Amino acid sequence: MRVSEALDTRRTCRAFKPEPVPRETLEAILRGAQRAPSGGNLQPWRVYVVQDPVRQQIIDTVHGKMAETPRGEGAEYHIYPPELTEPFKTRRFEVGEQMYAKLGIPREDKGSRLMWFARNFEFFGAPTAMFFTMDRQMQEGQWSDLGMFLQSIALLAREHGLHTAFQEAWAVWTPTIVEILGIPENEMLFCGMGIGEEDAEHPLADFRTERAPLDDLASFHGY
Ligand SMILES: Cc1cc2nc3c(=O)[nH]c(=O)nc-3n(C[C@H](O)[C@H](O)[C@H](O)COP(=O)(O)O)c2cc1C
Repeated sequence: MRVSEALDTRRTCRAFKPEPVPRETLEAILRGAQRAPSGGNLQPWRVYVVQDPVRQQIIDTVHGKMAETPRGEGAEYHIYPPELTEPFKTRRFEVGEQMYAKLGIPREDKGSRLMWFARNFEFFGAPTAMFFTMDRQMQEGQWSDLGMFLQSIALLAREHGLHTAFQEAWAVWTPTIVEILGIPENEMLFCGMGIGEEDAEHPLADFRTERAPLDDLASFHGY
């Protein structure tokens, strides 16, 4: 698979088939992603890979706590800036509206939208999941390193015929995940990620998000 094809076909998959991903495949993907660059070659990332029964334990524990704390236990970082300005605000709004339109859930149907959002906490059906952490001493530069590691995993997954879904949503259940996985105090949870085969029959299987025109983000100087 060409890099451009992996990039083009990587999308956030929100409907997976239940077939587990073999450990060898996951190890191959992670070993490959370790080639991602990082400032000073710090390789600041840490990854916790889960499948059943631990995956199900996480799902059940969070489900059990949802009635009491529907918004979660609280993330350790702002998932989005508290006062998101334009054009970012509209982009965020539109991707949500486009996704719910594909799912046939209107704006007024808050209950169904919430129920769909809660699928995050079932990894959208992904049989395997990963959680990503970094040591707390890390700074902005290392967050960028982690991002490169994450994208490398997503692209290599495509080469293995798999899809991925990054999930910051899990950050709101940090204490629960920390406890179940035994994540040490010096590490901070960034996000989760579902990985597996896509359910090609699902209405979201052909959902493709938009991108801003190049002129909105790039300026060329001396050309
Ligand atoms: C770090 C990160 C965290 C994300 N967290 C979530 C999430 O919790 N739930 C979700 O449905 N999508 C999540 N997304 C997916 C984004 O909404 C998605 O990447 C964006 O809309 C672009 O769509 P695409 O990935 O299909 O190209 C996340 C993406 C990234 C990069």
